[in-house]
Amino acid sequence: MYPELEGKSALVTGASRGFGRAIALRLAREGANVVVNYRRSKTEANQVVAEIAALGNGVKAVALRGDVGSEESLHRLFTNISAEFPSLEVVVANAAFGVPGSLMSTTVHHFEVTMTSSARSLMHLAQHAVPLMKDGWGRIVSITSEGGQKVLPGYGVVGPAKAALESITRYLAVELAPKGIVVNGVMAGPCFTRSLAAIPGARELLEETICRAPMQRLITEEDVADTVAFLCSNQAKMIVGQFIFVDGGCSITK
Ligand SMILES: NC(=O)c1ccc[n+]([C@@H]2O[C@H](COP(=O)([O-])OP(=O)(O)OC[C@H]3O[C@@H](n4cnc5c(N)ncnc54)[C@H](OP(=O)(O)O)[C@@H]3O)[C@@H](O)[C@H]2O)c1
Repeated sequence: MYPELEGKSALVTGASRGFGRAIALRLAREGANVVVNYRRSKTEANQVVAEIAALGNGVKAVALRGDVGSEESLHRLFTNISAEFPSLEVVVANAAFGVPGSLMSTTVHHFEVTMTSSARSLMHLAQHAVPLMKDGWGRIVSITSEGGQKVLPGYGVVGPAKAALESITRYLAVELAPKGIVVNGVMAGPCFTRSLAAIPGARELLEETICRAPMQRLITEEDVADTVAFLCSNQAKMIVGQFIFVDGGCSITK
């Protein structure tokens, strides 16, 4: 569907499950080579690599460990990426680690870990990846949630981190556009993945979402992956610093 992605190389952070897994598979279906990044879930990441190999379209996929919240770990990750691929054209900043709860009950440590993993990581990913985007063509896509703009239960720390991620996305979009690197984001609605399940009140949020969504269902991981693939394509080349809402219309209803 997007032949320009064929032969390109993509890093998808947090690709061992959830949205990241679906995005890695989607980009591989487009013919892109994929780095399946994970932090702890090596077995699941290797499973995603096996699923990509089973596509049988000749793309290369490797599972590489890296904690997006650690500068040192990211440095190692990019050394390993450079050893596997001559260039890197696509980065999907999907991984996030957030401590659920309220601002009043959080600790400095939890606040900093959440901010570092979920927001500052995008800056480091761009700093490492842009020198590898060699032919004046690149794509960076971040993944955010409604909690960056609205106050949701249990999102006291994650919400502000997502707001920072969104701002970093826009600033990078302006800094990198002259280099031919297009930066955008996807604002995903609730989907019952492992990270959502950890948020107190997740089930209620999902039930309320289904009631309010004009599409009358939750989004799937593949819905997000389809939009990421579009943002990586040439068709999206003049969309700069924007967030595409993938939420079945939830955000426009009361
Ligand atoms: N699910 C939703 O309803 C929803 C809605 C809107 C936005 N989002 C966003 O979508 C993204 C993916 O969420 P998800 O729901 O798909 O989560 P998920 O199923 O829990 O998957 C999270 C992935 O991130 C990895 N990860 C976590 N911390 C990491 C770190 N520090 N460094 C590298 N990898 C790390 C995990 O790997 P390991 O297990 O190896 O740590 C896993 O592969 C997140 O940015 C999330 O905020 C989710």
